[in-house]
Amino acid sequence: MKRYQVLIMLLTIILFLANSCAPKPTKKVPIEFESGQKYFHRVCANCHGVDALGKNTRAPGFIDLEYLPENFSDEEFYQQIIEGSKKMPSQRNKVSDPEIKEIIKYLRYSQKIADLIVEDDDPDNEDEE
Ligand code: HEC
Repeated sequence: MKRYQVLIMLLTIILFLANSCAPKPTKKVPIEFESGQKYFHRVCANCHGVDALGKNTRAPGFIDLEYLPENFSDEEFYQQIIEGSKKMPSQRNKVSDPEIKEIIKYLRYSQKIADLIVEDDDPDNEDEE
């Protein structure tokens, strides 16, 4: 009986650890962005934060003007994931090309709903920063 209880305890701990390794998203997204959200949180969120909002690490959040398509293209996202950089290890072995596409799709959607994009058909926005 004792051994059985120890096993249960171990299983609980393992489940807890497995869960805390992959941060959970806090936002509900439409079904077509769910797989990208899942991949992002499996592979990137440990460094880039839950919901891509960044963390207290050197990895930037992506819900930021700096990473809107005008400033940071899909191709640049792809390159960064594949090549990595001095401070970011390459993620080539962690995600496939189709998964990267889904991740970028999810990030673009998250940027859009965050309202960072200034509508240029509204002339009143011209003077605002
Ligand atoms: C081990 C931690 C870690 C993981 C995992 C990680 N990154 Fe990064 N990432 C970083 C750090 C640190 C930087 C800042 C790099 C620098 O300044 O050179 C960064 C930078 C970036 C940049 C910005 C590059 C720039 O020029 O501004 C992008 C885009 C990026 N990561 C995308 C991703 C994506 C998408 C994933 C998941 C597929 C991912 N990263 C996974 C740590 C990580």
